[in-house]
Amino acid sequence: MDNNNLLNAFVDKFGEGGDIRGYFTPGRVNLIGEYTDFNGGYVFPCGLTMGTYMLARKRTDRKLNMYSLNFKKNGVVQSSLDEFLKGLEKNWTMYPKGVMWAFGEKGYELNYGYDILVYGNIPNGSGLSSSASLEVLTGIMLKDMNSTNGIAGMSLQDIALIGQYAENKYVGVNCGIMDQFAVAMAKKDYAIFLDTNNLSFKYVPLKLGNYKIVISSSNKKRSLADSKYNERRSQCEKALALLQTRKNISCLCDLTVADFNEIQDVIQDDVLLRRAKHVVYENERTKNAVTALGNNNIKEFGKLMNESHSSLRDDFEVTGIELDTLVEEAEKCEGVAGSRMTGAGFGGCTVSIVRDDCIDSFIEQVGSVYQEKIGYCADFYVAGVGDGAHKIDLDARGLL
Ligand code: GLA
Repeated sequence: MDNNNLLNAFVDKFGEGGDIRGYFTPGRVNLIGEYTDFNGGYVFPCGLTMGTYMLARKRTDRKLNMYSLNFKKNGVVQSSLDEFLKGLEKNWTMYPKGVMWAFGEKGYELNYGYDILVYGNIPNGSGLSSSASLEVLTGIMLKDMNSTNGIAGMSLQDIALIGQYAENKYVGVNCGIMDQFAVAMAKKDYAIFLDTNNLSFKYVPLKLGNYKIVISSSNKKRSLADSKYNERRSQCEKALALLQTRKNISCLCDLTVADFNEIQDVIQDDVLLRRAKHVVYENERTKNAVTALGNNNIKEFGKLMNESHSSLRDDFEVTGIELDTLVEEAEKCEGVAGSRMTGAGFGGCTVSIVRDDCIDSFIEQVGSVYQEKIGYCADFYVAGVGDGAHKIDLDARGLL
């Protein structure tokens, strides 16, 4: 699907004329640092070349006409800026609607509706942030289309935060900031080393030598709203409250591994203890992984990825047989530096660092064992590391 086809599809649905503008936001893959983001810790995601496209045109009334080429069966979903159902839309439009609602909540009042066409090539429900991508996409569109009410002055980080707010308060998933931040701020061939405690970050070149990032999709779909995601978050909060009776901390990632080991006995409940342990150790692993990458030590980086997966499987318990099978088999393959689940887990994808000359055999071996054990196939993508949210210039390509 190129820009030309998107424009044709837009005109086909909504008619010609007016100022039609285009935008793109990537998906993301998190290399390491899982479930640290709502605990004030480090994450290390990068943007993908897969992502979501939006074409939009401002209307003169407050109506919203939204159409997705991925959900054609929903047809044009009609709504308005006066009708926010708070996640009860139960279809893809809850994400753009959530962001429009959040703009209003944050004092960025919107006065006009839009005709909107969306197309994405991130497999949805795959843990590669198709929702955050759509949220940030809506945010950059609204910013670009509005020069009033302070909207024009918003930064990409403001938009990421609004996307997270929409996801928390409108969609109902208490996610952290990683996904929206990553898709907004991504940079081609770099990963983002983000401190979620204060949003300070550094772009780290993804110098993987003769290795590539391979994403394996379990094809087990999950929606965060249905998963145990919110439960994990509240377990972390409970563990934090107990640890705070012993040490003056504001989040779990304020603790070093040594601090944690010293005071962990305050948590009597085994489940809460394992949840907190994962978070504190994962935060340390993330820092060490970024150092390893800086030293071109892919072997060490991969080892930390493997440890991350084991911790997510045994202590945080968010993997499941599909993701475990993909990782176990990946670890047996030649030329694999490391492998782990990525994103929220409970299905979705794994990320592996695989040597160029072994990618074909990796796909063959992991794919056939997965099919045999799970009963359906996995999909594999050699990831392109792409830029964050940006406008696509329809004019420049002579398409208008
Ligand atoms: C999802 C959430 C993120 C983060 C990850 C787990 O992707 O949206 O905020 O919590 O899970 O690391």
